Amino acid sequence: MEDETLVKMVGITKIFPNVIANDSVNFELKFGEIHGLLGENGAGKTTLMNILYGVYKPDQGEIYIEGKPVHIKSPKDAIRLGVGMVSQFPELVENMSVAENLAPLFPDKILRRKRIDEIHRVAEEYGLPIDAEAMVYNLSLGEKQRIEVLKALIRRVKILILDEPTTVLAPNEVNALFKAIRKMKDEGRGIIFVSHKLPEVLEITDRITVLRKGRAVATVNTKETNEEELANLMVGRVVVRKHVREKTILGEEVLRVEDLYVLNDKGGLAVKGLSFSVRKGEIFGIAGVSGNGQKELIEALTGLRRVDKGRIVIGGSELTSPPQFRRVASHIPDDRVRMGILPSLSVLENLTLTSYRRFSKFGLLKSNELEQYAKNLVEKYSVIAPSLKAPTWQLSGGNLARLILARETSADCSLIVAVHPTFGLDVASTEETWKLLLELKKKAAVILVSEDLEEILQLSDRIGVMYKGELIDILESEEAEAEKIGLMMGGVKVD
Ligand SMILES: Nc1ncnc2c1ncn2[C@@H]1O[C@H](COP(=O)(O)OP(=O)(O)OP(=O)(O)O)[C@@H](O)[C@H]1O
Ligand SMILES: [Mg+2]
Repeated sequence: MEDETLVKMVGITKIFPNVIANDSVNFELKFGEIHGLLGENGAGKTTLMNILYGVYKPDQGEIYIEGKPVHIKSPKDAIRLGVGMVSQFPELVENMSVAENLAPLFPDKILRRKRIDEIHRVAEEYGLPIDAEAMVYNLSLGEKQRIEVLKALIRRVKILILDEPTTVLAPNEVNALFKAIRKMKDEGRGIIFVSHKLPEVLEITDRITVLRKGRAVATVNTKETNEEELANLMVGRVVVRKHVREKTILGEEVLRVEDLYVLNDKGGLAVKGLSFSVRKGEIFGIAGVSGNGQKELIEALTGLRRVDKGRIVIGGSELTSPPQFRRVASHIPDDRVRMGILPSLSVLENLTLTSYRRFSKFGLLKSNELEQYAKNLVEKYSVIAPSLKAPTWQLSGGNLARLILARETSADCSLIVAVHPTFGLDVASTEETWKLLLELKKKAAVILVSEDLEEILQLSDRIGVMYKGELIDILESEEAEAEKIGLMMGGVKVD
């Protein structure tokens, strides 16, 4: 075996009930290489990585690390062999500090102070600053993920798997992560970069392997490929990106926010005197780099966070509680696992959490009708799941997102609050979701929160740009240009 090969996976097959997640996959990672792993939702990317990390045992196939055959039976084995994985969803204890979460990485005898210093040192070295004494529940998704990367760095992994690491990151956070990855590459380590964002994959990787329905269909040199070819390899056809955003006739006002003030967890002002209204027939985009008050605004709008001053009026009545919000509105949260589903409940149960009452008569559940309803949703939204009865944690990340989208947008409601609705979705599903939202505005008012400028520009009728808790401007779509909004997101006022 050539000595430049760090990892070699040969003929990996993994079969789950009803699906071949990996079908004789060959995959290779070199020392000092950043290797992209692409594929549609459910193509088998996470499964392949879970096998390398010892979460699953393959049904067939061999793994070699630095030329030696290895048997990875658990993540413990993987870690011993120098493999680290930052998974699609951070796994941290919310109610502990960063340092407490990282404590198991250090020998028992090391003093707390020393641990904190070491965390800060590594964070500094790789340009991923973090406050080791912060409580995890106060951190953004991006910061939580940063901790997962630090975990791997503190362990000095040789092989780092990043499963959709940039999904939840703001552009400046992506830059910081890329710098850290490049440094690791220069140190001779191997990095596997799983993502749906083609421009990023083209920017950061050396080679790219594409999975389609469990099979590795190609490995290409990044320099010799382009977005079109990759999209084609992933879905087996050409993907078009074209939207017609129709002007819809505006209906009644559905949401009104009046001089709203909201506090963050630390008691500081996160939202400072916002006023806007949204009517049926329009998508109101809220652009901004995360951490500028969007989280607190959305929590207030959905009834999850107390309003400090001002008013939120939905459908004519003042909002006072989450149940009241849910009666008239839907919410697609960004943190899907924590806020969008109950992982151990079945696909059917999660799909019908908010609607099962409709299928009950005299206290009896009409389960056939309920099942038919769920079946239709699964079909319409292409949720790929082992079965309706399977626990939801078995779904791939993108299919989880589709499930929540299905539940939240099929409900009869007059307001839809969509926060990063295409997080983790592949190119084709992103298209589908955009189409869906454009369709939904015909019957509801839609609020779209996103850091993805393309998404905001493609969909919004009006765009509010948030910076440091304020809406620094509200633009009509005609006057909105990417450059202008980009500047405003950085706090620059543009006329
Ligand atoms: N533990 C499991 N039990 C049953 N089926 C599973 C399990 N884990 C994954 N699957 C199935 O295997 C297939 C591949 O899933 P995987 O998570 O590897 O996809 P992915 O390429 O990472 O997709 P995404 O981009 O949506 O994250 C899916 O159909 C998924 O439902
Ligand atoms: Mg995945």
